[in-house]
Amino acid sequence: MSQTKTLSETQEIIDLNQDYTLFSWSKQKGTNPIAVKYGEGVYLYDYDGKRYIDFSSGLMNVNIGHGNQRVTEAVVRQMQEVSYITPSCVTKVRGDLGKKLAEICPGDLNKAFFTLCGASSIENAVKLARLYTGRHKILTRYQSYHGASIGAISASGDPRRIPVDSQQAPNFVHFDLPYLYRWSYGEESLLKESIAQLERIIAYEGPNNIAAILLEGQSGSSGCFMYPNGYLKVVRKLCDKHGILLIIDEVMSGFGRTGKWFGFEHHDIIPDMIAMAKGLTSGYLPFGCLMVSDKIAVKYDDAALPLGLTYSAHPVCCAAALEMLKIYEDDNLIENAVAMGRYMDEQIESLRKKHPSIGDWRNQGLLGALELVKNRETKEPMAPFNAKPDEMVVMNKVAAKLKELGMYTFVRWSFIFIAPPLCVTKEQIDEGLKIISEAISIADSARS
Ligand SMILES: Cc1ncc(COP(=O)(O)O)c(C=O)c1O
Repeated sequence: MSQTKTLSETQEIIDLNQDYTLFSWSKQKGTNPIAVKYGEGVYLYDYDGKRYIDFSSGLMNVNIGHGNQRVTEAVVRQMQEVSYITPSCVTKVRGDLGKKLAEICPGDLNKAFFTLCGASSIENAVKLARLYTGRHKILTRYQSYHGASIGAISASGDPRRIPVDSQQAPNFVHFDLPYLYRWSYGEESLLKESIAQLERIIAYEGPNNIAAILLEGQSGSSGCFMYPNGYLKVVRKLCDKHGILLIIDEVMSGFGRTGKWFGFEHHDIIPDMIAMAKGLTSGYLPFGCLMVSDKIAVKYDDAALPLGLTYSAHPVCCAAALEMLKIYEDDNLIENAVAMGRYMDEQIESLRKKHPSIGDWRNQGLLGALELVKNRETKEPMAPFNAKPDEMVVMNKVAAKLKELGMYTFVRWSFIFIAPPLCVTKEQIDEGLKIISEAISIADSARS
């Protein structure tokens, strides 16, 4: 008891959490979390008053920044009226939110099915694509992540699925789409070869068996890989040719993150369904949405739609999302993401001159990743794909330094993700990049 009193409040809270709660994706012993008391804009504060700049917007979801009281007020207002109704009843916020989403989505993507998170948007997209087409296979990319529930992790090509490989849901087929930095023959060749490979896979699997191709609107946690110019347009054409649906996962790349409402809008295509979550409520409440085209929805005008969730269209989450969409517009956050993304690119260009361990920088709007290498000529990564703990020694030191210097961001293998809230300013970008510069000096010294 007396020993507990000597601990800082922060440490007491960390101990409590470690004793009684489980942590995602990590060994339970040796986690080193930040104990967050409150957040404001791009900053998080721990219980001892230490400030951290949040350079990955939580898990690339807190797009509007932390602590915006407009959302609190909208949520409280809704709770004062009604907190829960069954999804067969309706509220004004549900209707208003559906209408607003139909306005910001292109084409005939006019019908919203509200879910709980990214994974549940994906699960419902997969289910609906199979029901609608009467086909069973879903094609997805190896270097992708779509969520952790059984179906969504099976759809993901990401190695997070490997420990649960034996539990895989059937009928997901993965294909490769290499990225330009590690493709030696130029972008035109990458486009040509990737499309040829996809066409072969469609033929091998039988086009009439394929319900949908599922792709992220802009690659996220796999490493922010850019699609070769024109790729998504050809995928759209292949889908049309074979009666395959195109599902775009905008869970991470949606809601201004890439400088447009949705990542796919950089590619001049319109998908058949959009899976949304994260930025829809900026993480203020867990929520998601599957946006469905009229073409698909009309099939269920006279037939039951076999999808359902107790918390579908939760009124309080709808209220948070509706207010969120107003905040994106009122505060010009998408315009700011474009301007700050450009500024970020310029500043990273200067960092690249200073730090030989920077191999590549990939960014769209404010969804970016630095890739660190041991050697710029050989491009040997600072930590390999799906690195084991003993291969993460240098990158762990870089991550520890970032934290010590007052930054929270997402570090994975040889990637440092840079995706601050869309309200970030130039001064805050400078402040964050100064910390990153100091931390990656560690990687510079570890070059071979
Ligand atoms: C592209 C993408 N899709 C889906 C998901 C899953 O979202 P959730 O964790 O809310 O289930 C994520 C999560 O990071 C994601 O990045």
